[in-house]
Amino acid sequence: MLKRKLGSSDMEITIIGLGTWAIGGTGYNYSWGSQDDRDSIETIKTAINLGINWVDTAPAYGLGHSEKIVGIATKDFRNHVFIFTKLGKSWDEKGVLGDGLSGKTVRQETLQSMKRLGVGRIDLMQIHWPRPDTEVEPAWTEMCKLVDEGKIRAIGVSNFNIEQLERIKKIRIPASLQPPYCIFRREIEKEILPWCRENNVGVICYSPMYYGLLAEKFDEQRISKMSVDDWRRKLPELSTNHKIYCEFYDQFKKIADQCHMTTGQLAIAWVLAHPAVTGAIVGARKPDQIKEIMSNCTFEISASVKEEIDSLSEQYSTLIRR
Ligand SMILES: NC(=O)c1ccc[n+]([C@@H]2O[C@H](COP(=O)([O-])OP(=O)(O)OC[C@H]3O[C@@H](n4cnc5c(N)ncnc54)[C@H](OP(=O)(O)O)[C@@H]3O)[C@@H](O)[C@H]2O)c1
Repeated sequence: MLKRKLGSSDMEITIIGLGTWAIGGTGYNYSWGSQDDRDSIETIKTAINLGINWVDTAPAYGLGHSEKIVGIATKDFRNHVFIFTKLGKSWDEKGVLGDGLSGKTVRQETLQSMKRLGVGRIDLMQIHWPRPDTEVEPAWTEMCKLVDEGKIRAIGVSNFNIEQLERIKKIRIPASLQPPYCIFRREIEKEILPWCRENNVGVICYSPMYYGLLAEKFDEQRISKMSVDDWRRKLPELSTNHKIYCEFYDQFKKIADQCHMTTGQLAIAWVLAHPAVTGAIVGARKPDQIKEIMSNCTFEISASVKEEIDSLSEQYSTLIRR
């Protein structure tokens, strides 16, 4: 698979990385419902065997569980898989996840992630969310120290705006930004993607298939099969905007059929078509899902297909209610 350099880091990453949020399982407010750990481990191993060379996780995914599973599954592949994780979210004893960025806890959070992952160094440590904003500089400064000490290979951020990126740039340029980017979420196109390109900041986009809703059609039957605690039930596409979403999906599927791709592959290819994007973080929780995504696909689309999808997404965005 094609590889690209991640910003100013020394890592050459495949254009697809594996996301492991859903693998965190159940028992907290951002769960994707129950998940069999054996499926999770097999999914990660399958992704690596298919050529994917990086896995994205976070303590927030299953309150430490995703990191533990990633640690187990990647144990025998350490020399050719990069592990990316995050810090700055915290949770209470009831499993309610909240904001928790703090310069004072960066070191401790890093050591805890290293322990759960079973690694002596983290390849990429990212600030998960810049909240509270006042802790951005103290946290970033401490992360720079951990790089200098060799505990972290590279540092990046997620969900940052331009103003926050400019502020940390004065301390040290981030290797990467992890923003949301997919056909339904194009906010970063105007300012953030050009800024990253200009500043040689790698961009690894999350939820390229819009949490799976672009990989298959979530019709009434599919919605009825979702776990009661799957946070995606709250998405407007599954309630107020459901009819519009289904109409969009049907039209999108026609384009995917013409391209001989699945809708999931086409959604990822559209993300990767932006010149500022380094890679897409693709979530999967069953081996067959990642096999299907990786099957027979170079994730390339023509300029005319991209234009067709752009215009479809613009039509859609004028119809949806947030
Ligand atoms: N930094 C942040 O704030 C942030 C936020 C969100 C995500 N992320 C990262 O980005 C990663 C990817 O995001 P995401 O998980 O939302 O990604 P996504 O790639 O948009 O969707 C992944 C989901 O799509 C479904 N799927 C995957 N392959 C499929 C297939 N072949 N056929 C049908 N359905 C399929 C699966 O869900 P079901 O099986 O349940 O349908 C899977 O969990 C996360 O795992 C996480 O690492 C980061």
